[in-house]
Amino acid sequence: MASKDWMNLSVQDLEQAIQLHNRLYWIENSPEIPDPEFDQMVERLRELAPDSPVLDAIGPAGAVAESTPIDDEIFDPTLEKCQHNPPMLSLDKCYDDETLQKWFEKFEGQAVASPKIDGVAAAIRYDADGKFLLAATRGNGQVGEIVTENVRRVVDLPMQVDIPNLEVRGEVYMPVSVFDKFFKADYMSPRNLTAGALKLKDATLVSDYQIHFFAYDMLAPALEGEIQTEVDKLKRLRAMGFEAAEPEAVNDDSLQAAFTILEDLRAELKYETDGVVFKTNLIEEQRRLGHTSHHPRFAIAYKFQGDADTSILREVHWSVSRTGAINPVGIVDPVTLSGAVVTRVSLHNLAIMEQLGGEAGLHLGSKVMMMRRGGVIPNLERVIETGDVPVEIPTECPGCGQPTYRQNDFLYAHHAIDCRSARIKQIEHFTSVMEIKGFGPKLLESMYDAGIITEPADFYTLTVAQMCSLDRVGPKLAERQISRIAQQRTVPAETFLRALGIDELGRHVSKILATHFDNIEDILNVQPEQLSEIPTIGDIIATKVSEGLQTHRAIIEDLLGHITITFPEPPSENADEEAGENAHALYNKSVLFTGTLESMKRNDAIAQVEARGGSAPSSVLKTLDYLVIGDADFEKFQGGWRSSKLKQAEKHNDQGSNIQIIGEQAFLKLLED
Ligand code: IVH
Repeated sequence: MASKDWMNLSVQDLEQAIQLHNRLYWIENSPEIPDPEFDQMVERLRELAPDSPVLDAIGPAGAVAESTPIDDEIFDPTLEKCQHNPPMLSLDKCYDDETLQKWFEKFEGQAVASPKIDGVAAAIRYDADGKFLLAATRGNGQVGEIVTENVRRVVDLPMQVDIPNLEVRGEVYMPVSVFDKFFKADYMSPRNLTAGALKLKDATLVSDYQIHFFAYDMLAPALEGEIQTEVDKLKRLRAMGFEAAEPEAVNDDSLQAAFTILEDLRAELKYETDGVVFKTNLIEEQRRLGHTSHHPRFAIAYKFQGDADTSILREVHWSVSRTGAINPVGIVDPVTLSGAVVTRVSLHNLAIMEQLGGEAGLHLGSKVMMMRRGGVIPNLERVIETGDVPVEIPTECPGCGQPTYRQNDFLYAHHAIDCRSARIKQIEHFTSVMEIKGFGPKLLESMYDAGIITEPADFYTLTVAQMCSLDRVGPKLAERQISRIAQQRTVPAETFLRALGIDELGRHVSKILATHFDNIEDILNVQPEQLSEIPTIGDIIATKVSEGLQTHRAIIEDLLGHITITFPEPPSENADEEAGENAHALYNKSVLFTGTLESMKRNDAIAQVEARGGSAPSSVLKTLDYLVIGDADFEKFQGGWRSSKLKQAEKHNDQGSNIQIIGEQAFLKLLED
């Protein structure tokens, strides 16, 4: 519907339109009109038919009631439900300074900025003694799903707080460093993985995902009247050990600067962000402003520029993945998102492509909304106007011509053993998991077509002459690549197994196999029955993995002729003592950084700590071992300046903690220890 056409609608049509947009917003998560327009439609209906029942059914509850068939999809029947009171609302958005400034003019006092994290919203409750009690997802805002045991495994989440009956709301996220290190090769985004981790049936597996929690709100009946500002709230949250935004309030002259600081920091932040959330600082003013049916009026999300734009879908290519699924890739008119031109976008799988197209199916020529999720991965968000030509689903594999068939969400084929596409994808997966850098898809395709690399073992016999026979490859590049391969001749069993690209032999199962067995022969000969005895492996996965290992036997044996596989040491009975004697000074120690480091990026420093068996929490816990002050700020520190982390550490030390506050140089010495 064109903007404002609804002004001429009859009451009945207006009611229908409101119900539709309410559902699009709350259930399908794909609003088609801006929030103010929705609110104006509601006002118009109120004018024309003040008794209309539709007016009482606006918001998440109304949306659920209208959409019973979809209900089952969003509510996993095996998870118990929990009511959110007050509901977990959404946020109003803006894209320019002017709108932000106008928002600011509507209230008294200052505003507080915090990064808008691209994660999964959750509410966490503590009991009357301050003990962790329950955690739930946002769900439809009114009713969420209880995921207590999974959230219990969130890194650094306080299990005990000093306020009775507290509820903390925030965003669960996976740090970008964790995603890049372990999951990038196999998964689309940290956000999807986080959502998946929260719903894992076996909560003990959640620890592998290293998910964190960023708190942005708390409901504390016991502190009624005591917490008067957003800054007070953030301070309390941080004092209890929650990761939360800097507790600083800004005036209208520094709103834009607060936005720019977070935008500039974006690439260095440990989580993905897609904007900055501003909130009215005074709680009294927040109450006065109240909320609309969708969002509070006291908060607004200023989205990062250039992340979203429209384009036209021209073609859909079908690409064979390493597991054999044939997945759609959209080709769109060039569109600039966050400064880079995008023409290709993964449509993920058959089912997701179908959902994008709605009932009519996806059509070429459609006007589509493109976005870089978290500023990084291009995504086709939704179809704005449907085009003319329906997308055809291939009946044959584009790589080997075998007939396709559908299985659940995916299109498959029984690929020929020499299916070019499947083989190249598998080789690509191998280099990615083995961290052999520098072999992009184009280079691998030409190497495959030239017959130089047709299976992973070929990397280990690759010669400079072979590589130089390819177009645009000179001896320097060839030598560099060959030395990169040589560096990966000894690998942990877990990495080796995952690199094979066998369906269902992903990170978890590989890790389980690598710790359950102590030699590769036993793993290769494993029977499905043996695997399904392991608690977290079901029958289907057991069969797929065992069969996959059989069909890949020749490839594996070829590889074993060139590489050495290592297995983790079984924990010895005196493990702690041994670690005490031989371990690095940072082993088992937690290190947090404040200020700017001069010798390395903060993420690299964290990686150095982790590589030595230490951890890098994101907030100042009482149990913290070291707080490192970056060299850039050390002089200021000696002159009396204190960051909020420093103040907190000193406060903990006053109360008996033993946090060592050291400079960057001392940290570098510790690393070398
Ligand atoms: S304040 C009305 N602060 O963004 C809820 N929300 O797109 C007040 N989000 O549902 C939320 N980072 O889950 C707030 N720093 C932040 C946030 C944040 C991410 C989420 C939140 C909200 C969603 C809206």
